[in-house]
Amino acid sequence: MAAPQVPRALVDRAESLLDRSDRVVLGITGPPGSGKSTLTSALLSALGTRLGTDAVAHLPMDGFHLADVQLDRLGLRDRKGAPETFDVDGYVAALARLHSSPASVLYVPGFERDLEQPLAGAIAIPPSARLVVTEGNYLLLPDGGWEHVRPLLAEVWFVGVDDDVRRPRLIRRHVEFGKSPDAARAWLDHVDEPNARLVSSRRDAADLVVGAPPPGE
Ligand SMILES: Nc1ncnc2c1ncn2[C@@H]1O[C@H](COP(=O)(O)OP(=O)(O)O)[C@@H](O)[C@H]1O
Ligand SMILES: [Mg+2]
Repeated sequence: MAAPQVPRALVDRAESLLDRSDRVVLGITGPPGSGKSTLTSALLSALGTRLGTDAVAHLPMDGFHLADVQLDRLGLRDRKGAPETFDVDGYVAALARLHSSPASVLYVPGFERDLEQPLAGAIAIPPSARLVVTEGNYLLLPDGGWEHVRPLLAEVWFVGVDDDVRRPRLIRRHVEFGKSPDAARAWLDHVDEPNARLVSSRRDAADLVVGAPPPGE
């Protein structure tokens, strides 16, 4: 599949956030499997073409998953992906440092999907990055520490996709990364979907609701 196309109006809107400040952070949220990461990567690629690749950067909330060793200690391994299985304070601190220390390189963790674990220092956000896109499930939650995220973002966009499109995609992704089809469906029902309902309950708090981009030609 070619890279998805991002509507030009979205690229324009993201770029116009730079009118507000020398460095801005745009949030992309939505339920698991809605297409946040796909939209973010297409948006960053379009913005990089316009502004220069050094001027844009990606800060994935997924990098702040707690590692399995901590989830085991907390008894949360079977809820991996729920709000309480993330280092929310670390995520908030990273977002705050984007604003407070713009002259420093900010190293943030990435999420290794094959390992299903975070990887420290996987992503470097250079001082030249003026437009940073952060994406993840819980950007608009009103509690649990997540409430400190929204004030650090210029806008938050919610990716809304019908469940009958989103759910099969998510099952496919789980199978692609090693789960059996039965295990994938069970994980969807017991873990992903309660999280999806929580995320969707905050849809009205978004600045903009967008569909996932159509697949590329
Ligand atoms: N517009 C699209 N058309 C077809 N498949 C898509 C589209 N957007 C996302 N997908 C697929 O759906 C799955 C979930 O997308 P992803 O961007 O990883 O979602 P999220 O980051 O919200 O969990 C991935 O396998 C991805 O390739
Ligand atoms: Mg994602």
